[in-house]
Amino acid sequence: MTIPFIEPFRIKVVEKVKMTTKEERQMALVKAHLNLFNVPGEDVYIDLLTDSGTNAMSDEQWAGMMRGDESYAGAKSFYRFEKAVQEILGFEYVLPTHQGRAAEGMLFSSLVKKGQSVPNNRHFDTTQANLLVLGANPVDFTVPEGEDSTIDLPFKGNMDLEKLKEFIQAVGVENIPLGMLTITNNSAAGQPVSMDNIRQTAEIYHSYGIPFFLDACRFAENAWFIKIRDPKYANTPVKDIVLEMCSYADGCTMSAKKDALVNIGGFIAFRDPELKQKIAQNLIVHEGFLTYGGLAGRDLEAIAVGLHEGIDEDYLNYREAHTRYLGKVLVEAGLPVYMPTGGHAVYVDGGKALPHIPPSQFPAVALANALYLAGGVRTVEIGSLMFEHLDPQAGKPVYAPLELLRFAIPRRVYTRSHLDYIGESAFECMKEAELIRGLRVKWAPPVLRHFMAQLEEV
Ligand code: F0G
Repeated sequence: MTIPFIEPFRIKVVEKVKMTTKEERQMALVKAHLNLFNVPGEDVYIDLLTDSGTNAMSDEQWAGMMRGDESYAGAKSFYRFEKAVQEILGFEYVLPTHQGRAAEGMLFSSLVKKGQSVPNNRHFDTTQANLLVLGANPVDFTVPEGEDSTIDLPFKGNMDLEKLKEFIQAVGVENIPLGMLTITNNSAAGQPVSMDNIRQTAEIYHSYGIPFFLDACRFAENAWFIKIRDPKYANTPVKDIVLEMCSYADGCTMSAKKDALVNIGGFIAFRDPELKQKIAQNLIVHEGFLTYGGLAGRDLEAIAVGLHEGIDEDYLNYREAHTRYLGKVLVEAGLPVYMPTGGHAVYVDGGKALPHIPPSQFPAVALANALYLAGGVRTVEIGSLMFEHLDPQAGKPVYAPLELLRFAIPRRVYTRSHLDYIGESAFECMKEAELIRGLRVKWAPPVLRHFMAQLEEV
């Protein structure tokens, strides 16, 4: 078979997208202070800014939306949502939130105190920010191979278990109110975490009595990678892999905008009813009543259906092959692609693509802007604009381990010809790579600066 992958769905509704000229894009970028977050979606032809909330919902999900029960308390939709979480993830208790960061916010503000630390393989930006605003310390222990964009290994998102143990011993369990593990590891190029590593991470946390939470946004893609990359699981159904992954954790935070295939929503799930009770108070104050938590009944229905569709193996097979195909197209266009490709995105090593631009001048942002100009394709930097911080002891900036440019793929949205077009745009952009200039920050807020930063060319 020569067809690289085949969509296990057909198109029922389409959305027109605007074609723009290079001059129009130039104007849009200037108006946006050279930050693609400020460019209106209408001026983007192919939008790979994120895979979050950008999913195409299915006919069954839309049918579920019509069934939405909008009762304030005890809506039927909540119970269908709760049943889906219980069946698929195996956690008994669940609180809905309006999205993933609200789930993190609720969990952390209920458990974490100022000065305490929360380890993770790598925190995503919002997870990190939710801890920083509490005065807590997010710490990252991705295995070192995760920081090498060239070695092709199956589970580069793993936790470095030795470093985790050393850290817990050094700071003391009383300073670690909970431990996390992000599956897949979004900030480390969307790389998966192996089942063995999930189990061993859990064993370490639990041996110290530390509650263990998964950041489960992309749990289904992680499970699929376990199936195709760990021979022990080749014949295990994905639904059983998901249940086993979750069986090691005390709970999870979830952005349903990813693997639950919806446009909005999230939740926190638990095994311990007392912990749920502790967070429930906080939820009612900040998000909403326990059975809707900032969502409409129809959103809960869409999540309930989407959780099931997200673990469908035909879908996951297509999803991984689709992403891998974009990786191949970008390699052919001359970009240094992080290997292997992730589940939800292809990551390009921006530092290698533009070696004349130092990390302090954000090579991956410069590449993102050049790619937008070349073809109207919007991507996002996961590098030093996002993660640079000051080392207070040395008084020097610490840059991100890699200057990554992420091509995140919305689920069930783009076709193979869209992917080929992205490759052509990348090829055009790389023809004049040495002319691309570095950037500096004109203005930015102190936390999560990449969203609102205003930039200028150096
Ligand atoms: N955790 C991870 C690993 C994420 O990737 C995200 C969001 C969140 C938590 C927060 O979820 O957006 O629903 O509040 N990531 C998006 C992205 C925004 O583009 O990767 P949220």
